[in-house]
Amino acid sequence: MAQVWCLSWRETWAILWPVSHPQSIIEAFRAAGQEQVFAFWDSLSSEQQQNLLAQAQEIDLAEIARLNATLVAQSEGEKGDFSGLIPAPFEPLPQNGGDQNAWNRAREIGENALRAGRVAAFTVAGGQGTRLGYDGPKGTFPVTPLTQKSLFQVFAEKIDATQKRFGAPLHWFIMTSHINHDATEHFFREHDFFGLDSTRVHFFRQGRMPAVDFAGKILLEAPDQIAMSPDGHGGSLRALARSGALELMKNEGVDTISYFQVDNPLVRCVDPEFIGWHLQKQSEMSSKMLPKAYPEEKLGHFCLENGRLVVVEYSDLPMEMQRQRDENGRLRFVAGSIALHVLDRDFVARMAQESSLPFHRADKKIPFVNASGEVVKPEAPNGIKFETFVFDALPFAQNPLVIETSRAEEFAPVKNAQGADSPQTVIEDQLRQWTRWANAAGANIATDETGLPPFSFEVAPSFALDETSFAQSWEKLGSAAKIEAGTVLK
Ligand code: UTP
Repeated sequence: MAQVWCLSWRETWAILWPVSHPQSIIEAFRAAGQEQVFAFWDSLSSEQQQNLLAQAQEIDLAEIARLNATLVAQSEGEKGDFSGLIPAPFEPLPQNGGDQNAWNRAREIGENALRAGRVAAFTVAGGQGTRLGYDGPKGTFPVTPLTQKSLFQVFAEKIDATQKRFGAPLHWFIMTSHINHDATEHFFREHDFFGLDSTRVHFFRQGRMPAVDFAGKILLEAPDQIAMSPDGHGGSLRALARSGALELMKNEGVDTISYFQVDNPLVRCVDPEFIGWHLQKQSEMSSKMLPKAYPEEKLGHFCLENGRLVVVEYSDLPMEMQRQRDENGRLRFVAGSIALHVLDRDFVARMAQESSLPFHRADKKIPFVNASGEVVKPEAPNGIKFETFVFDALPFAQNPLVIETSRAEEFAPVKNAQGADSPQTVIEDQLRQWTRWANAAGANIATDETGLPPFSFEVAPSFALDETSFAQSWEKLGSAAKIEAGTVLK
């Protein structure tokens, strides 16, 4: 396993400096109106005091003051002015009117980039996965119907199949957080990196931010622990730079980063067409969209604001605009964001330097220590977490590009324990996909009206990454090939 550096200068400093300068740190917090952070100081052991000082030193008090004056001061319901927004253009799929030749060209360019070793896979896996309520890093959650492969294993096998197809080994970067870093590394070691070359799998932690109450006071989660949480997937840009990952990419001739989230087993981790479109258009940051299924669907919207590409969250865009339709009856703001991006390495370096992503506020239930030193688990939101979002980099990118993808082929996130986007729907969406591929190759599996087969089976990425590769592998099996309950094709 290749370990990119894990500590930022701020973190290293945080460890070294407080030992000799505790009073100056405490004084700085007092001057900033945050003295409650040291409310239990006198009752702490010297080791606990050092821990608390190290965490305190990670905090940029001027940044917290700025956020208190802006985000915390505004009520959560306050929205911006969206009257100037128009829908963003995108490249439609060939089956939806796109230019087949242009898509073919894109695939060729992407495949050449993969053969040349210019591309790395990048998974953001630092989230807390609170909605799923699973105890462990989300990437370790089992998702396949029979062999119970974890999300990480599914991605590892897709990455392996891709590198074998193009004859060039891939690097895979995985961003974790302080909460799940050790457990994530342990999981990979325990599973022998799922057959990947461990020197090409790189883990690094994202940054973190303190949570505050509604008055802007930094919360403690224990007498010696500040309530810290990951700084959002937008933190990935800074973390890629400061961990040394960008430097490593440069040394290895990688200039293109394929970004995906940890929760979607249908994702094409490294998609030649997407990479090809990105390179062909000399885009610094490209994104995939899919048409929203209905106005209330909880996807961000690709829009143009003063000519710049932006993503406006579903919770921000007024519902009246989300319901607007064009002259053909199609949703006007139809382009939904599914958090798939291709990023230019130098663009990430530039964004990381400028630290230009804005923070967003999220009102959450945050366990905290009250004045008597007891831990309180609130029933309702009691504080604010600060997060940056990776799509906020889009307006800074040159030639940003949006291409369409197919929901059935590429989007089945596991977000909730039950209902929509849950383990059950994710299993069904995988079965539907494999059944489509199999039936296109002549396997003749009966389905219900939603395309779901009456039994479970599995198709490993080593057998097929898509419909075309399925057909090729299926043909090799010969005419006796059959899929029934319990079949695992690999
Ligand atoms: P989500 O928005 O689904 O958040 O993250 P989450 O934290 O995983 O889950 P909930 O909201 O608590 O239920 C989308 C993607 O961004 C990553 C997640 O790991 C997931 O891949 N992410 C999110 C980070 O890497 N860091 C963060 O700080 C937040």
